[in-house]
Amino acid sequence: MHTHANRIHAKPLSASLGVEILGLNPKHLSEEEKGAIKLLFDNHHFVLFRNADVTEEEHVSLVRAIGPISTADEIMKDGRQFTYISNVHADGRVPNGELFYHSDHMFLDEPLKGISLYSIEAPRVGGETRFLNSAKAYQAMPDDLKKRVEGLSARHVYDYDANRGDQRPDPATLSANTDMAVYPLVWRHPVSDVPLLYISRLFTIEVLGLSREESEKLLDDLFAYLDTIGDDYTHKWASGDLIVWDNLHLQHARNDFPHTERRALRRVPIALEAAYQHSG
Ligand SMILES: [Fe+2]
Repeated sequence: MHTHANRIHAKPLSASLGVEILGLNPKHLSEEEKGAIKLLFDNHHFVLFRNADVTEEEHVSLVRAIGPISTADEIMKDGRQFTYISNVHADGRVPNGELFYHSDHMFLDEPLKGISLYSIEAPRVGGETRFLNSAKAYQAMPDDLKKRVEGLSARHVYDYDANRGDQRPDPATLSANTDMAVYPLVWRHPVSDVPLLYISRLFTIEVLGLSREESEKLLDDLFAYLDTIGDDYTHKWASGDLIVWDNLHLQHARNDFPHTERRALRRVPIALEAAYQHSG
């Protein structure tokens, strides 16, 4: 970014992911600046602007620098380019409570490339979003665990009637209102081709081709392994924070917070550039 080299500054947020972008006004971006944001996103999987103060249009315009907006969400059928993660807005999604680690849309055949969240109101306590790098998690896996997952695939589900963020899905109680998809346990990122450990306590229900008992044992061992890694980065929200992250390279989780706290985020989802249909 030759002409702006003395102005744009990317400050690392953790050892394995994320930069805060300084010296750019996210409300007014030139094509060259949008290119710089895309490059930082590709290299660090996560970009943060503080005090962004962006309107809906400015937010969407910034996100388009990274990829096309996904309008798969039913609520966006009227043409709007965003939803709310909120306990303040009447149509806010997942308003309260803890959320286990996951990638959004793991239970659908069409992957979601990225997510942007812009904080309108932040709780004074709790509600942090935690991130882990799924590529790093796979790389660092002990060899015996790598051997055990080789060639296996898992089914991921979301039961719209159950809608709990802090419980594993239960095959005995799945309603008819459930989406599901199958992906390899070690899934290659459709853009970067990097292998990712692709499992989630929130969505993964079974490993295919194993007995229920063997499947649970393997998943328990994988979740226990992920617990030993912990979080790669925790974001404590302040109003005005704008984040865009790679939803496949990174998983995210949410800490609980008091229901009396107001928490509102504007969410803009990013689709893969090319039409991509995964078949399990
Ligand atoms: Fe999510």
